[in-house]
Amino acid sequence: MNVFKIRILVSIIVLIVIMMSVAGFSAPAIEVDVGRIVSDISPTMTGIFIEDINFGADGGLYAELVKNRSFEFDWPLMGWQLVKKEGADGRILVLRDNNRSRNPRYIRLLIHQAGEGFLLKNSGFRGMGIKRGIEYRFRVDTRLVQGDFTRLRIEIVDTQGKVLAKGQVNGISSDWKTLKCRMKAREQTARGSLNIWIEGSGQLEMDNVSLFPGDTWKGRENGLRADLVQLLVDMKPGFFRFPGGCIVEGYNLSQRYQWKHTIGDPMERIWNINRWNFEFKHRLTPDYFQSYGLGFYEYFLLAEDMGAEPMPIINCGMACQFNTAELMPMDQIGPLVQDALDLIEFANGSADSEWGKIRSDMGHPDPFDMKMIGIGNEQWGPQYIERYQIFAKAIKDKYPDMALIAATGSDGSIFPDGHREIDYLWSKWRELKPEIVDEHFYRKPEWFLENTDWYDTYQREGPGLFVGEYAAQSAGVASPDNRNTWKCALYEAAFMIGMERNADLVRMSCYAPLFGHEDAWQWRPDLIWFDNLNAYGSANYYVQKLFSIHTGTHLVLTTVKDVPVLDTTKTALHASATLDQTSDEVIIKVVNAADMPVDVFLDLKGIEEIAGESCVILLSSKSLEDENSLQVPQKIVPAESFLNISGTQFIYQFEPYSLTIIRVPVKK
Ligand code: AHR
Repeated sequence: MNVFKIRILVSIIVLIVIMMSVAGFSAPAIEVDVGRIVSDISPTMTGIFIEDINFGADGGLYAELVKNRSFEFDWPLMGWQLVKKEGADGRILVLRDNNRSRNPRYIRLLIHQAGEGFLLKNSGFRGMGIKRGIEYRFRVDTRLVQGDFTRLRIEIVDTQGKVLAKGQVNGISSDWKTLKCRMKAREQTARGSLNIWIEGSGQLEMDNVSLFPGDTWKGRENGLRADLVQLLVDMKPGFFRFPGGCIVEGYNLSQRYQWKHTIGDPMERIWNINRWNFEFKHRLTPDYFQSYGLGFYEYFLLAEDMGAEPMPIINCGMACQFNTAELMPMDQIGPLVQDALDLIEFANGSADSEWGKIRSDMGHPDPFDMKMIGIGNEQWGPQYIERYQIFAKAIKDKYPDMALIAATGSDGSIFPDGHREIDYLWSKWRELKPEIVDEHFYRKPEWFLENTDWYDTYQREGPGLFVGEYAAQSAGVASPDNRNTWKCALYEAAFMIGMERNADLVRMSCYAPLFGHEDAWQWRPDLIWFDNLNAYGSANYYVQKLFSIHTGTHLVLTTVKDVPVLDTTKTALHASATLDQTSDEVIIKVVNAADMPVDVFLDLKGIEEIAGESCVILLSSKSLEDENSLQVPQKIVPAESFLNISGTQFIYQFEPYSLTIIRVPVKK
């Protein structure tokens, strides 16, 4: 349709609306008063939260292809297999030497008879994703105890044993030595594996067997999967929360997340079982451990790459309260408090401070400029308050400008006597005044649509709000039947409009969890799905991305009138508007939750004129049950078009089941 036709159409609709109102009918209307700024909008309004759940880090974002590379799983040979060829005889011993490395286990191959050789195989994380034309970087630490081994032949093979890439490492010696080779893949497979051919007899030791693709994000060694990082970068997240989630707390305190175990030489990091390994009996994942290859240094670096504010969450002496709920006695939490202070120094200290030097030696002399820190994840009870206060005092004494994030327990956690945990915690936060309070919502989709006014009545004075975890659960909380349906995404969009309308209070928000491996997830829904080769954003991902990209700098007064209803608890039309002072645009966001188009009279007040063509971004789908998938990853994606609006009042028809964003350039 050309511009002339659009104008005629708009004029006709305006006329109809005027006639309807004269006749006593009233059409829905959205009034945006650009002259009435309600508040600024935090640049951190929409961010991301990465937790190593669903193979999100090991087996996912962290690009290492070898599973259990250092034999540190509870079952030291999990992921490995020793195949004896014709006439070969020998076995593997697992050794532990606490003096040799922070990462104490390694293997010794006892080869009594070489025969036609031994094959040490690694199966990868549900296979290895191998791409044609990409170079793969192999490394291994070896030591010759005795015998005639001189080299190792290396292969990457597919499920049929077809060799896709091959290389060789030489120079095995009687001292521990790191041997490396590179090899280019001739073909692609999602289920590759690694073969190490051992030829000779005697005793040979091995440790830290690693295989990385050469196409990691920014080509970094020990790097991240570039396609997954790109999806994150495209979101332009305002902040980046890490590492959890319940993973911070651990099933018990000995399994809690300890950031000092995650820095320095990747081969020297201290492994830990992943709490999601055994959390869900219906989704057991016995091969899920944390190598911490994506540790705190890589985290800060990625936050910097994305231009996102880092938001580390630390353990405050409490294990997961859904699990053991172990508490560190109050007289023993000193070292944990010191860990928190040291983390801040690692991020922000000068290169000659103790922990700043470690960061600098790892390759980043400049500080990361971390401004906030979360004390605990989903903690609750008076024991939390006690511990929070100790951490808060120590941090504020040393770093008065560091913003503190306090938790409100898990969504819906209640005391045995029935009163809501969140009320108790809020009463404490009003006294203790952390800068930010974190609330979580894992609820059915309808709840999100019915509660777009959730924050309208919150007390304004006091801490800012961080909606730190939320996601509509189509079947039930953390149910394996949950799906990333368009219904979930659309209703979350309506809730996000509610958050935006309360931008004076809600300063940050992020969806959770972020990643899900198609073959290795424990929890769904998830924002981004992937397998060993491909990745795609769910419909929810596009909602998050659109809100993040089209935030604006200031919230302006927006009134929705004569809203059509869906039923007694839900309305169909939800709207908010912001002004972007950097580009002089008004950004109007509208959710139409109805199954039919809705004509809306839009009235832009407080502006002199429209200064050019508007950009319309539409995210919609025919059915609320639609979803993106590996097979059809682009079923629900934003579409952009341009619109010529002649005056400050116009009619716009919002598509059924849609999120529409209109960016109107204005002169004020
Ligand atoms: O996002 C998954 C889990 O849900 C997080 O680890 C936890 O904080 C919440 O209960």
